[in-house]
Amino acid sequence: MDTSEAIHPDRVGPIIVQEAWGTIGKALALEHMNGVYVCRGERASLAFVFLSEKMFRMKLFMGKDLDLSTTVAVLPRENEPLEATVEETDSAWKLSSGRLVLEIEKKSSALSVFDLEERLVARQNNISWNPRGAIHSVYDMPGDSHFYGLGEKASFLDKRGERYTMWNTDVYAPHMPEIEALYESIPLLIHMHGSSSYGIFLDNPGRTDFDMRSHGIAYTIGCSTGDYDIYFVYGPDLKEVVRDYTGLTGRIALPPKWALGYHQSRYSYMDQNEVLHLARTFREKEIPCDVIYLDIHYMDEYRVFTFDPVRFPDPEAMMSELKALGIRIVPIVDPGVKKDPKYAVYRQGVEKGHFSRKLEGDLFFGDVWPGTSAFPDFTDDTASEWWGNLHKYYTDLGIPGIWNDMNEPAVFNSSKTMDLDVMHGNNGNPKTHEELHNLYGMLMSKATYEGLKRNMDGQRPFVLTRAGYSGIQRYAAVWTGDNRSFWEHMALAMPMVLNMGLSGLAFAGPDIGGFAHHTSAELLVRWTQMGVLFPYCRNHSSIGTLRQEPWSFGPEIESILREYIGLRYRWMPHLYNLFHEASENGLPPMRPLILEYQDDPNVTNLCDQFLVGSDVLAAPIYRPDTEHRAVYLPEGEWIDYWTGEVIQGGRHILAHAPLSIMPLYIKSGAVIAEGGIKLYADDRTDETLTLRVYGAKARPGFKASYSLYEDDGSSFDYVSGVSSLIRFELRGGEDELELSYRYERRGYAANRNLLRFALVCTAFKPSEIEGLNELTEDEADHGQEGWYIDTQTGGLTIQVQDMSQGAVFKLKG
Ligand code: GLC
Repeated sequence: MDTSEAIHPDRVGPIIVQEAWGTIGKALALEHMNGVYVCRGERASLAFVFLSEKMFRMKLFMGKDLDLSTTVAVLPRENEPLEATVEETDSAWKLSSGRLVLEIEKKSSALSVFDLEERLVARQNNISWNPRGAIHSVYDMPGDSHFYGLGEKASFLDKRGERYTMWNTDVYAPHMPEIEALYESIPLLIHMHGSSSYGIFLDNPGRTDFDMRSHGIAYTIGCSTGDYDIYFVYGPDLKEVVRDYTGLTGRIALPPKWALGYHQSRYSYMDQNEVLHLARTFREKEIPCDVIYLDIHYMDEYRVFTFDPVRFPDPEAMMSELKALGIRIVPIVDPGVKKDPKYAVYRQGVEKGHFSRKLEGDLFFGDVWPGTSAFPDFTDDTASEWWGNLHKYYTDLGIPGIWNDMNEPAVFNSSKTMDLDVMHGNNGNPKTHEELHNLYGMLMSKATYEGLKRNMDGQRPFVLTRAGYSGIQRYAAVWTGDNRSFWEHMALAMPMVLNMGLSGLAFAGPDIGGFAHHTSAELLVRWTQMGVLFPYCRNHSSIGTLRQEPWSFGPEIESILREYIGLRYRWMPHLYNLFHEASENGLPPMRPLILEYQDDPNVTNLCDQFLVGSDVLAAPIYRPDTEHRAVYLPEGEWIDYWTGEVIQGGRHILAHAPLSIMPLYIKSGAVIAEGGIKLYADDRTDETLTLRVYGAKARPGFKASYSLYEDDGSSFDYVSGVSSLIRFELRGGEDELELSYRYERRGYAANRNLLRFALVCTAFKPSEIEGLNELTEDEADHGQEGWYIDTQTGGLTIQVQDMSQGAVFKLKG
């Protein structure tokens, strides 16, 4: 006999319900209290806060009560909000903040943003919501629109015509154009049209989406739960959008120098002997390397905070040999804690109530590498602090960095993640996992970074993460997850990491050589040539794939790889300088050309070449059996790094690149700070410095300048002023040059006596340099002050004592 279940709604087929989408309706009144402007609409209200002359926050709220708290993505603000000037007309309110005018239309509550020349910058036509709490907004998309940002996404640089979801997801084939949700969620969309750009950051860690595909002349931004809480960040320059967005959500913490070195990883280096053999091989072969990673096999049955007693019987001895070799260990730590009452971390977590649970009190369990596992509730500070403190286990061994993986969190089930009805404590403001999902990975890395820092006696920690949310840059570098050894994935890494850089993630990179599938000698060479100029530089490969350590394909390949890895180390002072800049203003070390040449229509979607800082242009070869490629050089004069040839820009050229060459160009007048080649980045026994100036010209109007930041590269002493800033200038005159340097600050004394200035790719030859003698190269090698013409390159090198008071030299032609 059937029961009433026979007529269960699910059995009778789909029921079409016309969902009623609500809208704000007319704007009825504008109120102002404590720096907040509230526009009361017929069915909902909008709150506006002007955070600066060109940045405002807008939050939709129903009812009377307004909650202006933020997620952890947004840094606490020190400044009071700005007062806007308000003008009311028959049809609108106009709020002027100094650089922007925000107009609220009375008849529809539509918003328009104008610049001071009354040009329309952005228009939000409509916000609507459904009874299930989804919210949706529609923005104008003019014909010349280009879109950037959105963090870690596949496909090309310009996101016009794409649609993306922000929902941190462990996808095993993630790097495909149709994948909408990846490991990281950075809900920042940058829209550029005409000569202006702005960013919209939707601060909502639940599922959100950005659709620049489906609506013709409009793009949409929506969320399925939580608040519609946006920050409008006006440029008009892209650089200003990046600067201000990172001012809002934070910038990278200055990493320890060793973290900028070359990193070697594999899933997995299986035991202590293999790790030590690997480290010794790097040193014997004189290939620079700073870090070896330990993937999941180092653990005792995948229990985090343990070593397998058979495979790694003596971690202390391993660490002490590695220390002598100048190599650091970064072990993987996943969030899943094995369910095992005999395992102290699990027991403590249960006893102290630090694991995520359902509303009814049951712990949430999910399957990951260790089998059934519990997951810390990082939304509670006490659980985070507990987790952070557990890292003493590693720091006591001298381990200064941690690799956070599977922290979306990934779970081996059909939803791929934690149940959405898990109730996070959230420091007394409980919310479901559905509402906070995208924060989980970031909060794990935050807990890790802070825990390491507490235990590292003033040294800088390093955290690498797979998952994150806006603001993750404050705590961790990001790698792009499980790519494959496909040429297509090598090419894709460029736009992916470039957009990550525009989204605040300045310290990012892919698995060099490819993670899954099998690399080849040629792919490894081409990928490494490119990868050494990415901010984060790690070679990582999966279990069961061909080995891809630098020597895996014989001596010829090894020597090409040694040279390129060496280039990264030679350029380390410059690279570190760029990282310092990123920590100060948010601009990423690796940049799309559009960031430096915003008015050049050739570069809006150019992403098979990139800039390192503003003046180094790399154009990798990313197809097999290929020795030529087109390269676009923007306006100005460029110098081929390998041949010294001077090339006029503003056009495409055809570069010739046999296997040992990655096309590389330096802008004329650029300066690069170079150190000596080292086997590990923070070897401070010799901090020799050469400032290499490209294409100097002895003519009025020529100027090359550079500011170099230096500190000990490892501690937090720089925070209290233990750092230096050296300012260098080369100015052209009538058939002469004037070279000067001065310390704007000298709180850090580098380990060197001499400074070298090398003028390369220049026609200039001095007849005399006032106060300096001409030297033989031999005398120069013995540390004498003076100048000489390099017999090989024909360049001029000037070698002087490195003096606090600086110096000026006149170079006569
Ligand atoms: C995940 C990571 C990968 C790691 C593997 C084993 O797939 O993305 O990098 O090697 O897990 O830990």
